[in-house]
Amino acid sequence: MSEMWDSVAPGWEANAAFVDEQLAPATEALLDAAGVGEGDAVLDLGAGPGGAGLAAAQRVGSGGSVVLSDVAAEMVAVAARRASALPQVSTGVFDQSAIPVADASFGAVICRHGLMFVEDPVGAVAEARRVLRAGGRYAAMTWDRRELNPWLGLLLDAVGDQFGVPFPPPNVRGPFSLDSAGALSSVLQDGGLDDVTVQQVSTPMRAASLQEWWERVPRLAGPLAMALAGMDADVRDAIAKRALQAGSEAAAREHDGIVFAGSVLIGSGRKAPH
Ligand SMILES: C[S@@+](CC[C@H](N)C(=O)[O-])C[C@H]1O[C@@H](n2cnc3c(N)ncnc32)[C@H](O)[C@@H]1O
Repeated sequence: MSEMWDSVAPGWEANAAFVDEQLAPATEALLDAAGVGEGDAVLDLGAGPGGAGLAAAQRVGSGGSVVLSDVAAEMVAVAARRASALPQVSTGVFDQSAIPVADASFGAVICRHGLMFVEDPVGAVAEARRVLRAGGRYAAMTWDRRELNPWLGLLLDAVGDQFGVPFPPPNVRGPFSLDSAGALSSVLQDGGLDDVTVQQVSTPMRAASLQEWWERVPRLAGPLAMALAGMDADVRDAIAKRALQAGSEAAAREHDGIVFAGSVLIGSGRKAPH
């Protein structure tokens, strides 16, 4: 798992500003759901290049602290570079299923698009709850249903259609593994959180052209990048043709570019105060 994400770290570094801009309103909603405010101690799990935690760092200010963590060391190296001017931000390489930190260390724990890739998401939430102080809040963002995220769903469909099997395979955890309010709230409740709620936030994905979309997204989506890297050029070309055709039907024209629909879920809850 960490090797797969290490391999896409350069693509994430090149596109970090783009991802953070696409997700900016949703990220503010994530931080609100986690109750992040001035002076707080915040842990960002599965932080990748750190966009959500860096937004949290703006809120907590110089009197607070933020730890950007990820299982992939190359991702953490990107996050550390992006945080180099912020003394309140530190980094750590670890799996969110086994956080090497004492109980009750943080006032808020956030996870932006990292929980759905974990083999045991209930165990991961229970582990996040362990490191929360009593009354602290946890918030996780996951992708909403595939058909509400054609910017990614169509690319996965193009791979699946090429081989006549679903991609990623149903038994493999992927970007849409926690794509319903029911599934996400169950995971948070079963992980021991109280007062669990789930909200939906629109996250349209813009690109200058279909070609730019096709070149950018596979560099970010770990499972997709790994699958495409292992294919012959003619197979990749056939998949590109399918994706570009489907994309031309799904994307709307906007100003001098295109826009795809996008949607995320934000699930949150708190550790009981006593
Ligand atoms: C889709 S990326 C999201 C990155 C970042 N949070 C963002 O929104 O820009 C998923 C990230 O989760 C990390 N990840 C996957 N499984 C993990 C685990 N078990 N523990 C910690 N991080 C994990 C990956 O290495 C990757 O950086």
